[in-house]
Amino acid sequence: MALHRAGKFEEAEAGYRDCKRSGIDVAIPLSALLLQQGRNAEAIIELEPVAAAQPENFSAAVNLSIALRQQGEAERALDHARRACALRPGDASACNARGLAALAMEGNEEALAAFDAGLKSAPGNVPLELHRAKALRNLGRLRDALAAFERIVKVAPGMLEAWRDLGVVQARLGMVGPALASATQARKLAPDDSEVLLEYAVALLRSGRTAEAEQFLERGGGNGGVWLMFGQALLREGNVQGAHKAIERAYALEPGSPHVQHFRAALSGELPEGIESDYIRGLFDDFADRFESTLVNSLGYGVPNRLPVFLAEQGVEAFTDILDLGCGTGLMGVELAGGGRRIDGVDLSERMLAVAREKKVYRDLHAAEVLAFLQATQQQWDLIVAADVFVYIGALKSIFAAAWQRLRPGGHFVFSIERSDGAETQLVAETGRYRHQPQALCAALEEAGFIGIRQEDIVIRKESGHPVAGSLMLAQRPLRLA
Ligand SMILES: C[S@@+](CC[C@H](N)C(=O)[O-])C[C@H]1O[C@@H](n2cnc3c(N)ncnc32)[C@H](O)[C@@H]1O
Repeated sequence: MALHRAGKFEEAEAGYRDCKRSGIDVAIPLSALLLQQGRNAEAIIELEPVAAAQPENFSAAVNLSIALRQQGEAERALDHARRACALRPGDASACNARGLAALAMEGNEEALAAFDAGLKSAPGNVPLELHRAKALRNLGRLRDALAAFERIVKVAPGMLEAWRDLGVVQARLGMVGPALASATQARKLAPDDSEVLLEYAVALLRSGRTAEAEQFLERGGGNGGVWLMFGQALLREGNVQGAHKAIERAYALEPGSPHVQHFRAALSGELPEGIESDYIRGLFDDFADRFESTLVNSLGYGVPNRLPVFLAEQGVEAFTDILDLGCGTGLMGVELAGGGRRIDGVDLSERMLAVAREKKVYRDLHAAEVLAFLQATQQQWDLIVAADVFVYIGALKSIFAAAWQRLRPGGHFVFSIERSDGAETQLVAETGRYRHQPQALCAALEEAGFIGIRQEDIVIRKESGHPVAGSLMLAQRPLRLA
C-alpha cells in the first residue's frame, strides 16, 4: 500500500498479488489500483466476487459501479451505486457514482438528485458540481447549467472540461461572444487537443471570423459537420468555390450525413427527392433551445402573428379543430388558441415538441413526419396550418392531396412559403431552405381539389439583415364535390 501511495503501480500490484496468493483480502486496494490505470475489466473480475459475498461492503459497491460504468455497463453500475447509497446515504463518492451511472443511462432526474445529495455532505465538491451542471444541461435547464458552469470555472479556472461544457451551453443559448471566450480559455489549457481546436474553430465560425477558423479546422483534423459549417460560412460571404471545396471535404469525411447531403445537393443545384426527415429532425433538435429567441427576436419572424389576421381578413374565423403541421415550439398554437378551439400539432423534432408541450395549448402533439402523419390518420380538422414548414419540403403535391383528405368539407388549408420568383422550386444554397413559386402552388392546390385560393405577399423574416420575400396562401376544400 505504501508503494501504491507512492505511485509505484507495478511494484504495488506485484505486492497485492502476493498478498492475494497468501489468502490476504486485497480486492479493494487492488481494484482501486486497476481503476486508476483504466483497467476496468480486471477491476470487475476482482470486485464481483466480493460484492456478491459481501453485499454490505461499501467500497466494493462503489468501485464496482465505477468500473462497470466505464466498461459501458451502466445499468449494472447503477444497481451497485444505489446499493452503496443505501449503505451510506449522502456519502459523496456513492452519490457521485450513482449520479454518473444515471447520467450514462439518461436518467438525468435521478442523477441530479444524487449530485444534490452528495453536495449536501460535501458542499463545494468540484467534481460533484461539474456533474450536477451536466445533468442540468441534459435536462434542458440551460440557464441553471450556465450559472453552474460559470461558478465552476471561477473556483477551478484550470478545469478544461468545465470551460468546454460552458462553451457548449453558451453556444446553445446563442451567446456567441461568451462561447468564443470559453473556447479560447479551453484552447489555452489544451493547445494541441484536436477536439478543443475544432470547438475553437466552430466558435470562430459562429462569430463570423471565417478566415481565422480555417487553420484551426486543419489543425483539429476536422469532421464532416465542421467542414460543412465552414462551407456555409464561405457561401454567406459569397465564396462559392471555397464553399464547394469545403462541402466536398465534409462529404468525403461523412458521406452518410443527411445534413452534408442536403447542402451538397443545394450547391449542385439538384433537388433532393422526398422528405429529408433525418436532416430536419437533426436541425431542429439542435435548434430547439434557441429557436424562439433567434427567430422571433433576432430574425423578426412574424408568420404566427400575421397568419390569424390574414385568416380573419379573408373571413375564415369559424373553425374549432385545428391541425398545426410542423408546429415546432408552438408559436402558432399560442396565436390560434382560445374560444374553445382544439389544436393538435405534428412535428419531427422531439425537442421542439417538448417546448410546445410546455405551452399547454395543444390537445395532442405527435412526433411524426407531416406527410406520413396525414396519410396514416383518419381524423379530420376544420383548419390545417403549416407555418414556415414548406421551406423544408421540396415536393408538396402529395402533402396537398393528403391535407385535402384530412379537412372536413368546407375546411381551410393555410400555409406560408418563401417565394421563388423564378423556378417552381428552388433550394437556396446559402440557407438550405426551399423557395416555391406561388403560381405553381396554385396549380398544385387546384389539382388536389382545393378552391378559393388566395395569396398575400409578406416579409417572412430577415436573413443577414435583408427581408426574405414570402407569401401566405389559403385554400378551401369545397363543401361538396362538384
Ligand atoms: C421553422 S420551424 C416553424 C415552427 C412553427 N410552425 C412556427 O411557425 O413557429 C419548422 C418546423 O417544421 C418541422 N418540420 C419540417 N419539415 C417537417 C416534416 N416533413 N414533418 C414534420 N415536421 C417538419 C421542423 O421540425 C420545425 O419544427
